[in-house]
Parts: sequence; structure tokens; C-alpha cells
Amino acid sequence: MLVKTYGAALFGVDAKTITIEVNIAQGINFFLVGLPDAAVKESQQRIKAALMNNDLKYPAGRELTINMAPADLRKEGATFDLPIALGILAGSDQLSSEKLDKYMIIGELSLDGNIKPMKGILPIALRAKNEGFEGIILPKEHAQEAAMVEGLDVIPVETIREAVDFLADELSIAPVQRIAPKLSATSLLSTIDFSDVKGQENCKRAFEIAASGGHNVILIGPPGSGKSMLAKRLPTILPPMSLDEALETTKIHSVVGKLGKNVGLVEERPFRKPHHTISDVALVGGGGYPQPGEISLAHNGVLFLDELPEYKRQVLEVMRQPMEDQMVTISRARFTIDFPANFVLIAAMNPCPCGYYNHPDRDCSCPSGTVERYLNKVSGPLLDRIDLHIEVTPVSYTELREERSGETSEVIRNRVNKAREIQRRRFEMEIKSNLDDGGVRLSNTESQSQIISSNADMSSKQIRKYCQLDSACADILKKAMEKFGFSARAYDRILKVARTIADLDGANEIGTRHIAEAVQYRSLDRKEWGG
Ligand SMILES: Nc1ncnc2c1ncn2[C@@H]1O[C@H](COP(=O)(O)OP(=O)(O)OP(=O)(O)O)[C@@H](O)[C@H]1O
Ligand SMILES: [Mg+2]
Ligand SMILES: [Zn+2]
Repeated sequence: MLVKTYGAALFGVDAKTITIEVNIAQGINFFLVGLPDAAVKESQQRIKAALMNNDLKYPAGRELTINMAPADLRKEGATFDLPIALGILAGSDQLSSEKLDKYMIIGELSLDGNIKPMKGILPIALRAKNEGFEGIILPKEHAQEAAMVEGLDVIPVETIREAVDFLADELSIAPVQRIAPKLSATSLLSTIDFSDVKGQENCKRAFEIAASGGHNVILIGPPGSGKSMLAKRLPTILPPMSLDEALETTKIHSVVGKLGKNVGLVEERPFRKPHHTISDVALVGGGGYPQPGEISLAHNGVLFLDELPEYKRQVLEVMRQPMEDQMVTISRARFTIDFPANFVLIAAMNPCPCGYYNHPDRDCSCPSGTVERYLNKVSGPLLDRIDLHIEVTPVSYTELREERSGETSEVIRNRVNKAREIQRRRFEMEIKSNLDDGGVRLSNTESQSQIISSNADMSSKQIRKYCQLDSACADILKKAMEKFGFSARAYDRILKVARTIADLDGANEIGTRHIAEAVQYRSLDRKEWGG
């Protein structure tokens, strides 16, 4: 008898439905076909044991053929155990096949028939919903994660026995109710806050600008000046994630198994801090069966590269393309996988090897020439994508002792939200007006660059359109370029940042004070730093 069950295979951060056909006939052989990997091939042994340990029978003395389709997709891992096992039971008349086509079924069996936790449930549940399955049968630990998908019955099971009894209508399992995600600003789960940071008003202002415009930041300052402390707090002033953003981010964390048990959704913007010894594959993603890297785990959040000059140059180089595209594309002979990677980058570094160059009351002990060489280690591709250079000087003892605490993250975040709203409207109007102009859908690359949400992502064309300067502003910018010896790359960065400062100010046009402030955030382009 031929029976069909349905499982799923992960493909990047998405899942594909796998149809499992079980045919039981005369004979004694066991065939498993359809590009299974070693773990799938071993399923026969696990299934045999699991069935026997649960008073179920493995059909002895029969020929079992199991075909997994589509055949060209490699089937990885052990999560097909459960759908295969249920197919075998239905094929040998131990279970009615009536309800089998209503559910996507996933789960790895242990020998005693328990069902083990696994990776990538959210993309699988989304696929189940999109393919019109009524529900999904899965390991209990992941019920909340799958329940984020609305309109899908999530049936948690702990053992193969429970799955069998449920499908035979001998056990009723109520679909798991979704716990509403807490994405609103008021319920941010953070225990850290900007009000913990004493003084540092200039730095906080720069962070507010970075959060508002989505600008990448580099912090330059001596040891202990609070760089790490500040960096960690950036996510607390970013707007809360939308449900779509949270789902996207959760998918990535889910496929690498970084989502905790019984967790439904990544509710806070991620903050990732990979160590400087990280490999390029671990940073951007890759591997034989491609997995997302740190920059994708930081998707919709913050990536913090502390001690930037310590990272291998080649590791930083591989970030260039993803930062341009806000996604990583990994190509293999048979397929290409995209992992989203849209994050705000914060880099931090000491100003020189000893750490005290430009320090208010300590002397730099570095031999001449070392400072420049040190900075050169990070110049180039990555620095080209960083809009704000922030010099962090340590706060004084008196400031540290002060009782009065500064603004809370919530107060700052409210201003950030307003500035973001202005940008959202601006770029939304642009899409509309482009469609009105004859309604021609723009070419793929062009339309992608059009659908942006923050000033940091403006193309040069958009910069010319939205960052127009009157003669007074142009004059200030020209003088600053000359005075500080800014390189050409500083020019567009200053305009973008000025646009964000004007948005925070609620101003339609960029004014002189906006330009004057923006100019201050280009320390590394100044001649004295070797820019
Ligand atoms: N402005 C501040 N307000 C309150 N505490 C501060 C401030 N600046 C520094 N600190 C204290 O000093 C500690 C060290 O700061 P932090 O680790 O952020 O410095 P850093 O610049 O990252 O140093 P390093 O270069 O060594 O990594 C913080 O954990 C915090 O306790
Ligand atoms: Mg630090
Ligand atoms: Zn030094």
C-alpha cells in the first residue's frame, strides 16, 4: 500500500515541503530514495527501535520503499523520522491515513520514541501555512515558535505514541494558542538604559542621530571611556521591531538553533558582538550547507565590532558586499541562498596602540608613525560605509559620582521614532511618485535602492534630491572641507547625516546648524588622523 506524508527541509532561511511516499510490498528489502543524507539514511534504525518501544510494529519480512520528493533537493538531518514512521504505520494498517495529509509532520525520534527538539521551526511553520496545511505536528519545545504563524493548528507531541494516538482520534491535543508578542516600546525587555551613562552628552547625541538615520558608527576612545557601555545601549533607542521584522529575525535565529526553548519570537532587536578572532565564514555566513553568520544574526539590530583594528583585514573585506546589499548571497554549484543582513554597525577602537593618543590628561607613548599605521588597518572598504565618527573621551570622576541621571532610552527613542516616521513618509512618497511617472516598474536593482527606510541608505541620486543646500550651507561645508582637509568620501556622508539631524529637528530643509553639526562627526577624515 502507498501512503503519503509531508515533512519539510530547510533551505537558507526558508523551508520547502518534502513529500514522503511510503510503499510496502512483497519482499524483504529497504529502499530510501530521493537524495537523503547520512542522518536520513539512519532513520530506519531509529524508527525500528522507537516503534518497538512503543508497542507498535515495524513491518517485518516486507519490502519498504521510501521516496522523498522533490528528488533534486538534498534532505538533511533526522527530522523526517516522524513522518516516515507514521507513513510506515499507515502503510502497514496500524494507523488510518485519513488525517495524514492535513498536517506537515516533523520530528527526530530517539530510540525510546521521544521526539527531540530541532532547528528552523518558524520557516517550516510558515511554509506549512503557505501550502495550505491545516496544521503542523512538531516537538513540544517549539510550539510557541510555530504558533507565531496565524491560521495554523500547532499540535505539540512529546512521543511517537502521542502522534499516533492524535492521528487516530484516540487522543485530543488542543492546538497551541499564540502568546501575543511583546513588541511595543513600553514592554522592551531590556534592563540596560541610556540613563546609566553619566555625562557623555555629545556621544549620546551622536547615538540618537545614528539610531534615527540608521547610520553606522565608529567610536574612537581610550580604554575604559565607555565605548562598550554606549554600544550596548544602541538597541534600546531604536524603534521597536515590527511583527514582520521580528519574524524575519526569528527565522534566522531559528535555523541556526539560537532560539531558546519555548521561545516564540525574537522580540528585541538583536545585539551581536563577535570576537575579533572570528573567521570570515562565521561572520558573514557560509559552509558546506550554508548557514547564516553573525551579520545575519544581527539582522534588524546592531552588530558591534569591538577593537576593530584587531580583526583580520580579509574578514572585514568580506563584509563589504553584504553591507552594500543588506544581504549575503552564498552561491553553490547547485543553488544560491540569500540571508538577510540589514544592521546598524558600531565599530570601536582605541585611537592608537597604547590607547592614549589625544587623551586629555595622559600621554601617548606610541612612536611617531604608529598612530597613522594603526588607523590605516581599518581604513578603506569598511570605513567607507561608516557615517559617524565619534570620539569618546572618558568622563571625569566628578561626573561619574553625580547622582543625577540623564535621559532615559525611552525619551530618546520617542524622538528617534519621530525622525524615522519623517523618513518613512519621504521614501514612501518617492515610490509613489516614481510609479506615477508613467507607472513603469523600475529595474530590479533600481527598485531595490528605492525602497529604503532610512537616510543612511540613500543612493547618490537620492542624496542630490533630498540634501540640497542653500548657499549659506554650501559655504559652511566648503570651508569645513578645506579647513579639516576632508577627503571626498566625507562629502556624501556629511550630507546624509545633516539630513538626519534636520529630520530630528523637524526641518524640511537642511540648515546651517545641521551642516555645522554633521561636520563634527568626521574625525577620521581629518588630515591629522591621516584621512
Ligand atoms: N559615562 C559613564 N557613565 C557610567 N559609567 C561609566 C561611564 N564610562 C565608563 N563607565 C564605567 O567604566 C566601565 C568601562 O567602560 P567600557 O568597558 O564601556 O569602556 P571601553 O571604552 O569599552 O573600554 P575598552 O577600550 O577597555 O574596551 C563601564 O563598565 C562603566 O562601569
Ligand atoms: Mg570595550
Ligand atoms: Zn598611543
